[in-house]
Amino acid sequence: MWIVNRTKEMLDKLATIDGQLTDPKSEQPQQPAYCTNATRSIKPEYLVAVGICTHLGCSPTFRPEVGAADLGGDWPGGFFCPCHGSRFDLAARVFKNVPAPTNLVIPPHQYLSDAKLLIGVDAKGA
Ligand code: FES
Repeated sequence: MWIVNRTKEMLDKLATIDGQLTDPKSEQPQQPAYCTNATRSIKPEYLVAVGICTHLGCSPTFRPEVGAADLGGDWPGGFFCPCHGSRFDLAARVFKNVPAPTNLVIPPHQYLSDAKLLIGVDAKGA
């Protein structure tokens, strides 16, 4: 499971790369309805995602460095799966032309308070 605290710069970048993504609007049911939004999250700053590649189940690595040399100068930051090279952005959305067919899964979750996150259970009425 990943919980990533995204900076404003990271969030701003998400809005600029839709054209590079397979499912930028999260139309596939890979997240609860309350995370079917631009940041795939309840609170924009926090990404909660299942760290299992949607290709064959490897564990992608967290690669937040923009322009990482080994990922190409236009790398916007995200997750890279070392098994077969799938790439995901910082909203866990899959890039085009990689083996993984869909975005990573966002699990059911809810905030019990500002400091407490419960993963695996939807909020009542969600
Ligand atoms: S398992 Fe991740 S790219 Fe194949």
